[in-house]
Amino acid sequence: MYQIVYMSTAQISMKTPDVLEILEKAQDANGEHKITGFLLYYDGCFLQVIEGQEDAISSLWENIQNDERHFDIHLIAKNKIEEREFPDWSMGFIDANAAQASEHLGGVQITGPDDFLRYVKTPGMALKILQGFARSYTFDDQPN
Ligand SMILES: Cc1cc2nc3c(=O)[nH]c(=O)nc-3n(C[C@H](O)[C@H](O)[C@H](O)COP(=O)(O)O)c2cc1C
Repeated sequence: MYQIVYMSTAQISMKTPDVLEILEKAQDANGEHKITGFLLYYDGCFLQVIEGQEDAISSLWENIQNDERHFDIHLIAKNKIEEREFPDWSMGFIDANAAQASEHLGGVQITGPDDFLRYVKTPGMALKILQGFARSYTFDDQPN
């Protein structure tokens, strides 16, 4: 199995309902393709982990890179894994506010995508942040 972690910037026109629409479709499709993961939306940025079988992850990663709803897509990690780290979510999600972000970013103030990217690029940091959110918030359905 493979796990991909990336960060991207949402198109300026994206509103929370647009993100929820992506999420709803993603949860259905991921359930079907046995993909699990977690999506953080904060300050106009996405930080997402997807995990599953190699072919399913490759094709989803291709789709995500071609999706015009976001840009400046940075691959942070591609890991070969034996076990899922986010087994409980077909795609967990948090639309984080400043207080939640500050709590999970160890009090670090993030201002904008460049700053966020610099922070999550610290080795191991992106997954640690996503795991922290995944443990605290469970808005989401179980994989089938
Ligand atoms: C930030 C972001 C995260 C996404 N996450 C997923 C996901 O986890 N699963 C999924 O199937 N699609 C996800 N998508 C949507 C895909 O980019 C793409 O629209 C989807 O795979 C459907 O592609 P298709 O219509 O070509 O089948 C995401 C899109 C964005 C912008």
